[in-house]
Amino acid sequence: MDTLTIRKPDDWHLHFRDGFMLQETVPATSRCFSRAIVMPNLIPPVTTGSLAESYRQRIEAAIPKGSAFTPLMTIYLTDDTSPAIIADASKAGVVAAKLYPAGATTNSASAVHNLDQMQPVFEAMAHHGMLLLIHGEVTDPDIDIFDREKVFIERRLIGIVERNPSLKIVLEHITTAEAAQFVLGASDRVAATVTPQHLLYNRNDLLVGGIRPHNYCLPVLKRNTHQLALREAVAKGTPKIFLGTDSAPHERGKKESACGCAGCYSAWSALELYAQIFEDLGALDYLEGFASEHGPRFYGLELNQEKVKLVRESWHVPTEITLPDQNKIVPFYAGMEVRWKVQEV
Ligand code: DOR
Ligand code: ZN
Repeated sequence: MDTLTIRKPDDWHLHFRDGFMLQETVPATSRCFSRAIVMPNLIPPVTTGSLAESYRQRIEAAIPKGSAFTPLMTIYLTDDTSPAIIADASKAGVVAAKLYPAGATTNSASAVHNLDQMQPVFEAMAHHGMLLLIHGEVTDPDIDIFDREKVFIERRLIGIVERNPSLKIVLEHITTAEAAQFVLGASDRVAATVTPQHLLYNRNDLLVGGIRPHNYCLPVLKRNTHQLALREAVAKGTPKIFLGTDSAPHERGKKESACGCAGCYSAWSALELYAQIFEDLGALDYLEGFASEHGPRFYGLELNQEKVKLVRESWHVPTEITLPDQNKIVPFYAGMEVRWKVQEV
């Protein structure tokens, strides 16, 4: 098979950033995705409906002329988020709220310190039909970084799911066998996204032969048994796991640093890489469900009607991308060969 025509996909988790960076990130995603769930971890974070609305307008201003793209806005939960803020955000068209345990990842310092106090907020979200998107890692210093997702599920997530049976929850960017197993066994109100890097790579790709800062993201890449479990889960075609790239740009100097930032900027190649992964798994028939159907069905949104065509064509991801301010980003999979290419939308 040398061409692949699928319903136009959506990206259910990414970071556009702000300011001039939108000139890079919005066109890169809108080349092949129809909608995207936009993460709110700006500085300062997007914590209310009105901040989400003005961020939406800045994103919309960066959509290339003639391309149809819809940003789906989220707010960032803090210790001060109230049911009234949720009601107001829902009225402003915000579809989901993001839960970062404080300190778990990039720009999460002002997020939630005490999860137990969030129950009224979760109830308000369920009431307004707003989804809860979770960065599922504990931050306790005594928990090894490779165990933080597993421990979050045991100590936090199971309780949140049990106490909120009508709240739709997405465990974002899953990285472990335990996460896949939990989501597959949970109610149909619980789903997960998975990134290209966690399907393609394991921690050897981060650490063997030298530290590879451009493969560093959070949750961090795990051992190969977890990678294999994630690959096995998506190859089943389950509707509970769908596409979320976690495309997360950082300027080159901030990645290649003594204390490098977490995040892989995958927008330039993500859809093609997912196609490659599903092909390698002998599961190409399930690509469309993963990329274009499971997400909107879970969110309760219409499926896209447009199509996207991928052709079997070898190309190389650029080794770096120049931003409007002349800073550089090294994209995910930089300089490497990809076998599929998006041809036309
Ligand atoms: O690798 C990551 N980068 N993980 C996150 O959770 C946040 C993201 C970012 O904002 O750069
Ligand atoms: Zn993210």
